[in-house]
Amino acid sequence: MDALRISSIKRKKPISVLVNGKKVIAYQGEMVHAVLLSAGYRVLRKTRNQKGRSLFCGMGVCYDCLVTVNGVPGQRACMTEVHDQMEITILES
Ligand code: FES
Repeated sequence: MDALRISSIKRKKPISVLVNGKKVIAYQGEMVHAVLLSAGYRVLRKTRNQKGRSLFCGMGVCYDCLVTVNGVPGQRACMTEVHDQMEITILES
């Protein structure tokens, strides 16, 4: 869903990742969270009290953006660079 991206930014090579098994277009150098936001995902996980969490600090401090990357849980989406064919698992929203 490139409609949510800023079109004037020059991007690197397009790649694809899987988000909950669905193919999503990304670009080399992007962080996981940017890819998820551009694909329309907003809630990435829930707390014990079932409160939705997503990007908060955007710089690796708050741990609100935790996702599972290539089967490894607890990865910060704001600090993890995407790679071709990366498998990302988030809460279904
Ligand atoms: S948004 Fe705070 S650690 Fe990722």
